[in-house]
Amino acid sequence: MHALRNVDLSIQKGEIFGIIGHSGAGKSTLLQMINMLEKPSSGEVIVDGVDMTRLGSGKLQEMRRSIGMIFQHFNLLSSATVEDNIAFPLRLAKQPRDAIARRVEELLGLVGLSGHGRKYPSQLSGGQKQRVGIARALATNPKVLLCDEATSALDPQTTNAILSLLLDINRKLGITIVLITHEMHVIRSICDRVAVIDGGEIVEMGPVADVFLKPQHRTTREFVAQVTDNPDDGTDALRSANAAGRLRIRVTFIGEQTYEPVLYETMRETSVPFVILQGTVSRLKDTPYGQLVLELQGENGGAEQAIDKLRSLGLDVEVIRNE
Ligand SMILES: Nc1ncnc2c1ncn2[C@@H]1O[C@H](COP(=O)(O)OP(=O)(O)OP(=O)(O)O)[C@@H](O)[C@H]1O
Ligand SMILES: [Mg+2]
Repeated sequence: MHALRNVDLSIQKGEIFGIIGHSGAGKSTLLQMINMLEKPSSGEVIVDGVDMTRLGSGKLQEMRRSIGMIFQHFNLLSSATVEDNIAFPLRLAKQPRDAIARRVEELLGLVGLSGHGRKYPSQLSGGQKQRVGIARALATNPKVLLCDEATSALDPQTTNAILSLLLDINRKLGITIVLITHEMHVIRSICDRVAVIDGGEIVEMGPVADVFLKPQHRTTREFVAQVTDNPDDGTDALRSANAAGRLRIRVTFIGEQTYEPVLYETMRETSVPFVILQGTVSRLKDTPYGQLVLELQGENGGAEQAIDKLRSLGLDVEVIRNE
């Protein structure tokens, strides 16, 4: 019985890479292989050109300093102050006292906790505890930050604040972030690429926009439904409007297209009447996107002409079969 199989994954420097899967899929195992908290029975794990599986314990310790990690339940020392929690990895690295004090102040500022250094974890909210976790993880200037369900214990608003902080850190420091989650919202908010893991195998992988808007695997579709299923989204109209001779299509707009009147132009040019059956407009990280399900009522090839026109304008058009 393998926890993971056939995992072939390459994460680029500076990207935010998400791994999503259900409980028991193998997410934590995969993440912990990056810093060798879990050792694979076969294969290689290369971080910054170094094969982690071949390192002796001294060299491994050193490499681990360049890989920070944060956890769902924060894993702070409850008997130590915020400052001491953050200083912990610096003391382990035997840095001088005054350098540690300076670095701790800097980190408190970076994560928005200036003035909270003397408090104990029990005096902090969940979001503040995770900020301490992030500061501690960044103390030794890592190149990679691993996040194991870092927002799963937080309410939605605090989750968003922590996700913005991670994005900010990624941009300011150029640090590569690998995060695992079971929430598609997390992936959609900050990730550049995503891998979907199911039963210990990666079943789908690609840029978030591709995976999100065109999910191929059943598991991926389930996750996407977490953020797109809305009981009030016109599904009834979708079911009832099913007349013969009409063509139903799903049009996807990405980026600036989302704000352009392409639909209006197309319909004016081809004179094809249409009905909107369903629609969403949202955001993938910084990219706006929209999806509309339309029913085209053109006769004598008019609907096909409209589809050609939409495609020529760069929109993704998928014809949905009437079931
Ligand atoms: N070292 C190991 N060797 C073999 N199997 C393992 C090992 N570690 C964990 N497992 C098993 O591998 C599977 C994946 O575990 P893992 O903790 O990676 O899942 P997860 O996706 O992180 O789940 P959760 O969302 O609940 O945290 C589980 O069935 C677990 O029991
Ligand atoms: Mg886990």
